[in-house]
Amino acid sequence: ARLDVMETFHNISFPGHLHTQDSLNYAIHFPFQDTDTVIATYPKSGTTWMQEIVTFVKNGGDPHLSKTVPNWTRAPWLEQYYSPEVLGASQGHRVITTHLPYHLLANALQDSKAKVIYVTRNPKDVAVSYYYFHKMANFLPEPNSFDEFLDQFLEGKVNYGSWFDHVKGWTSQARVNFFYISYEEIWLDLQGCMERISSFLECPLVEKDLTRSVRHCSFSSMRDNTMVNYTLIPNEIMDHSKGHFMRKGKIGDWRNTFTEEQIGRFDNVYNSLMQNCPLTFLYEC
Ligand code: PPS
Repeated sequence: ARLDVMETFHNISFPGHLHTQDSLNYAIHFPFQDTDTVIATYPKSGTTWMQEIVTFVKNGGDPHLSKTVPNWTRAPWLEQYYSPEVLGASQGHRVITTHLPYHLLANALQDSKAKVIYVTRNPKDVAVSYYYFHKMANFLPEPNSFDEFLDQFLEGKVNYGSWFDHVKGWTSQARVNFFYISYEEIWLDLQGCMERISSFLECPLVEKDLTRSVRHCSFSSMRDNTMVNYTLIPNEIMDHSKGHFMRKGKIGDWRNTFTEEQIGRFDNVYNSLMQNCPLTFLYEC
């Protein structure tokens, strides 16, 4: 049975299984601390990967936390129901995750020196990953066909709102404590990205810790780590017989799902909505 009750907040739908009006209100008024690291993403853009990378960078390459504590405890989602309880009492060097669009957090972040890492991903790969995630996640609506899901994605009528608004909102911020990176860049050069993130977070890694971190953040290593592969989530919530959270971990895999007609439909919407956005995706080069 599906658990897909929706919570609507500022005209955006959120899975009601994980969000309440209270937790969403708490998030938009959150008192960020200057020592916070915030990982902001649209869903399926590399959130879990960045949570793992940041865990390693902040722990000098020590895998202990990564092997013993689930990602959602190490880097809790700001807007989810447990957040007031978990983050309310916390201090120090926190890692906080969010899927909220920028405009909902703009006030809370305004005077903060919290470091923000925003990860983007080729939206065609995001759409495909999101579609397969809807099939296995019982707290999301049944997506039916990819064609139907694609229309909803292009109209922004999916949970967490429009990909286009999300990316435009977060990437229009040119602040010193914002760091932008794409899933594709990480995929092509995990070590180089890890070095950049370690310098952004001012957490230096010596050579051997860097090598170790890179190994632990590979797709195959994360796929087998129960603390990040979501197999701890019971079947009623994520039906593991219908798919894997760590599904493929590829770039440009959308080509195996999109038809020519769907590519055309997607590109039309992309070109009209992203006109002033300087982003290009590596798959197009
Ligand atoms: S969520 O539900 O929003 O938190 O999902 P998110 O973590 O943002 O995205 C899940 C996709 O990221 C892929 N992933 C990885 N790819 C390559 N390397 C590593 N280490 C890695 N970790 C996670 C995961 O497989 C999902 O993408 P797809 O395309 O579905 O495989």
